[in-house]
Amino acid sequence: MKLDFLFRQFRRILIVVFVSVFFAGCAEKLQAPHDLTVGEGFTNPIGFYDSVPNFSWKLPVSEKVNFQFAYRIVAASDSSLLPAKPDLWDSEKVVSDSSVWVKWKGAKLKSREKVFWQVKFWNENGDASVWSKTASFELGLLRNKEWQNAKWINLPVSDNLNDRFVPQYFRKDFLLEDSTEDARLYITAKGLFEAYINGERVGNTSMTPGWTPYKKRIETITYDVTHYLKKGENTIGVVLGEGWYWGRIGYTNKRIRIDGEPGILCRLETELADGQNKIVASDSEWKGTDKGPIRFSGIYDGEIYDANFEMSGWNKPGFDADNWEPVRTLPIDEEVQLQPKRHYPVRAQEVLSASTVSEPEPGKFVFDLGQNMVGIPELKIPVKKGAKVTVRFAEMLNEDGTLYTENYRTAQSTDYYISANTGEINWRPSFTFHGFRYVELSGFDSDYKPRKSWVSGIVQHSDFNKNGTLHTSDTMLNRLQKNIIWGLKGNFLDIPTDCPQRDERMGWTGDAQVFAPTSLFNADVYSFWASWLQSMREEQADDGALPVIIPSNRTYKPSVGWADAATVIPWTIYQHTGDKNILRENYEMMLKLIRFYMADNKREKTVFSSFGDWLQPFSHQLKDTRRGDTSVELIHLAYFIRSVEITANIARILGRQEDDHELSEFCDSLKLVFQNKYLDTNGKLTTEYETQTAYLMALGFGLVPDSLVNTVVENLVGTIERANKHLQTGFLGTPLLAPVLDEFGQTELVYELLFEETYPSWFYSINQGATTMWERWNSYSKEDGFGDASMNSFNHYAYGAIGEWMYKRIGGISALEPGYKKILIAPMPDKRLSFAEATYESVYGLIKSKWENDNNRFKLEVTIPPNTTAEIRIPADEEQRLIEKGNLISEQQTEMRFSRNDGTIILQVLPGNYVFEVLK
Ligand code: BGC
Repeated sequence: MKLDFLFRQFRRILIVVFVSVFFAGCAEKLQAPHDLTVGEGFTNPIGFYDSVPNFSWKLPVSEKVNFQFAYRIVAASDSSLLPAKPDLWDSEKVVSDSSVWVKWKGAKLKSREKVFWQVKFWNENGDASVWSKTASFELGLLRNKEWQNAKWINLPVSDNLNDRFVPQYFRKDFLLEDSTEDARLYITAKGLFEAYINGERVGNTSMTPGWTPYKKRIETITYDVTHYLKKGENTIGVVLGEGWYWGRIGYTNKRIRIDGEPGILCRLETELADGQNKIVASDSEWKGTDKGPIRFSGIYDGEIYDANFEMSGWNKPGFDADNWEPVRTLPIDEEVQLQPKRHYPVRAQEVLSASTVSEPEPGKFVFDLGQNMVGIPELKIPVKKGAKVTVRFAEMLNEDGTLYTENYRTAQSTDYYISANTGEINWRPSFTFHGFRYVELSGFDSDYKPRKSWVSGIVQHSDFNKNGTLHTSDTMLNRLQKNIIWGLKGNFLDIPTDCPQRDERMGWTGDAQVFAPTSLFNADVYSFWASWLQSMREEQADDGALPVIIPSNRTYKPSVGWADAATVIPWTIYQHTGDKNILRENYEMMLKLIRFYMADNKREKTVFSSFGDWLQPFSHQLKDTRRGDTSVELIHLAYFIRSVEITANIARILGRQEDDHELSEFCDSLKLVFQNKYLDTNGKLTTEYETQTAYLMALGFGLVPDSLVNTVVENLVGTIERANKHLQTGFLGTPLLAPVLDEFGQTELVYELLFEETYPSWFYSINQGATTMWERWNSYSKEDGFGDASMNSFNHYAYGAIGEWMYKRIGGISALEPGYKKILIAPMPDKRLSFAEATYESVYGLIKSKWENDNNRFKLEVTIPPNTTAEIRIPADEEQRLIEKGNLISEQQTEMRFSRNDGTIILQVLPGNYVFEVLK
C-alpha cells in the first residue's frame, strides 16, 4: 500500500517534471518561418527550372524576433523523412542572417526530382524556432535528351507565307492497366497549345508555352495530371495555334519565318498503382486533323470558330478518328534548348462585367466594360443556326458611339463565331488576345434584346501577385495609380510589351527599361523580368548589340536608352530583391554591351541608332516629331556613362575588382567628356535645344561636377518654368523628372507637375477619360479628338514610370540597402494631400508607411519586417516634438538613435510597428 502510494507519487512527480520541461521547451521555441519559396519567389513549384536553386523564407512577426542569427535547412526526397532524416541536404546550423537567396548545397538536382524542405532559425538571443511547414519543389525536364522518344508532331503546313495557318488538333488513345499514383504532362509547342485529357482541359493557363527566342530556346510546361487519368482507356488531345511562333508579328502582313514548322511536343509520364511506369509521348502513332472548329487564330487578327466543325468527344476515349491523318514527326532540334518555363504562364485573372449596352448602328451592340483591359471576351448569347456572330473590340469610342479601331492599325482584332445550332452558346477564344474596353456584337439571335450579362471581359496576364499598394486622399492620384496598374496588367502578357492592341505588342526594351522599377513596386514580377532577361542574353549579337525588341524576329538596329535595359533592369531588380544572382546572370551581357558602346565610339559614324527622347511633346524635329529635341549624341553619351557606372557597381558587388577599377576610371573619364562637351561654365547646355530631359539626365546620372550642380538645377527649373510649369519630356526624360527634381530640393515643383491638369500632364489624360496609361498625353482629348492613329495606343505603360517615385516619396518606402535589408521610410507630405498609405511586400515581409497630415499634427504609422532595420525621416521643425505611442522621443532616447537635420527628424529603428506623431 505504502509502496503503491510512493510509486503513484513518484509517477505524478515524473509527469509534472516531464510536462513542465516539455512546455518550458515549447515556450522557448519561436514561431516557425513562413512563406518558403525557391528561385525568384516560387511557392511549391512543379516543373521548376533550376537544378541549383535558392531558398528564401520570412521570419515570423513577433516581439521576440528582430533578427535571424542562424538558420538550418533540411531537404529530403520524401516528406516523411523531415526534419530528422534529410537524405538530400542538411545545411546544419549556419550562423548567418541570410533568410533570402540561400543557395542549395546538396548534390546537383536532376530532371523530375522532387525535393521537400523545411527551415528553422535562431533569433538574436539564440532562441530556436520550431520547424517551418514542409515546402517542396519538383524539377521539370532540364535538358533536351530527357524528352527521349518524344518527337515534334504536326500536319503539313503551306509554304506560302501569305497562307493562314489552320489550327491543328492531335489525339492519342492509350490504356492504363491500373489507377494512377502520380502523373506529369511535360508539354510545349512551336506555336501555342491547349491540352486535354479525357475531355478535360489540362491546367488553367493560356498562351502557353510563351514567347522566347524560338531559335534558341523554347519553354516547356509541366502539369500534374494525376487526377485526369483513370484505369482503362484514356485519351490525350492537344490543339495547336500559330501564336507568336508562326503568326505575323511586327509590322508585317506575312507570318514570320522561323526555321522549323509549328508543332507540339509532349511526354505524359505516369506511375501506376501496380508500380509500372507508362509513358505516352508525341510520336508517329498520334493522329491529327485541321478540320476542327478553330478555323483561324492569330495574335493580331483574332479567332474564327466554326461550331459546324465541332468534333464531339474528339479528346475522349471512344472517338472515331478514322478520317484523321497520321501526323508527321520531326526530331528534337539539338541547338534549340527545351527548358522549363522560368516564370508563371498567362492565366485568366479577373472578370469584368459590362456596365452599359448601346446600339450606335442598327444590329450592332456595344458593351462597355468600364475599363481598358487585355484578354479575351466571354460570350453567353443566343444564336440562330448558321449565324455568323462578329465580335469587334475597341479601346475607345467615336463620338457617335461606334468603335474607334484605327489605332489597331492592321490588326483585325476581330473574333467570329459561326453557329451550328439555335440556342445559347458560351464561348471564348483560345489563341488570341485583345486590348479593349468596348466589345461590339452583331449577328446574334435578334429575337432577343441584348443584356449586359451577355458579354464579359476575361482579364489575362502573366500570373503574379500584387505586392504593393498605394492609396492617398486624392482621387485623381488614386486613379493614376490604378491606371499604372492597368498598364502593368495589360502589358505583362508573357513578355513586357509596349502595347497590347495594335499590330505591334512587342518586347520594346526602352519601354521596359523605364517601367521596370515601377512594376517591381506593384507586383512580384522578379521571375517575369529574369526570364525576359534570359531572352535578351540569347538575342545579344556577338559584337554586343542588343535588338530594340526582345524576343526579336528580325534584325533591328540597337538603340540608345533601349539597349540599356540590359544594365538598368538587373540593377533595379537587385535593389528590390538583394539577389546577386540576377547580377551574375546578366553581367557578361552588360560587359558586351559596353564593348559595343566602346567600339561604336571609335567609329566614324555611329551604328547605335536612337529614338531620342521618344514622344516628347512640342518637338521641333519636323522630320520626325516623335523624336524629341534632346540631342541624340548627348543621350548616347549619357546612357553610355549610366551603363558603365551600373556595370562598375555590379563588378564591385560581384568581387570583380579589376573590372570595377577599369570601369570606374573609364566612367570618370567619360563624365569629364560629358561636362566639357555639353555644359558651359554657367551650367547651361551647349546643345541646340535646352531641354528638360538633357538636364535631367545630367543630374540624374551624376554627370554634373559639384561646382555646377546648383546652376544646372536652376537651369532645369528654368526650362520647366518657361514651359509654363509643364513637363516637356518623352519616354527617357519623364521617369527622371520626379526623382531628380526631388533629390535636388524641388519637391514642391514635382507636386505641381504631378497635379497639373492641363496638357501635357498625367492628370490631363485622366481628365480625358484615361483608365490606363496612354502612349501620348493627348492620345485623345475632348477638344481635339483622337491623335494620329498611326501611333495611338491607349495602353502604353511608359509614362507610368512616375509610379516608382510615388511609392518612394508619396508613400515613403524605399530600399537603403539592396533587398530592403535596410529600409528608408521618408514620405514627403504635401499640402495637396491629407493622407497617403503605401505597403510593399519585400522579400523580408510587409513594409508599411502611412501618414496623415492636418493642422495640428503629422502622424506616421510604420511597419518594419523582421531581419531588417530602417531609417525613418520625418519632416519636423526644430521646435516640434515627436511622440511614439505616447512617449516623447528625443536625443535622450538612445534606442532609436534620434537626430535632427535640416527640418527632418531621423531615427534608426528595429523591426516592429511604430506610430509617430509630430505635434505642431
Ligand atoms: C513602340 C514604342 C517603342 C518605339 C520605339 C513604338 O512603335 O510602341 O513604345 O519604344 O516604337 O521608338
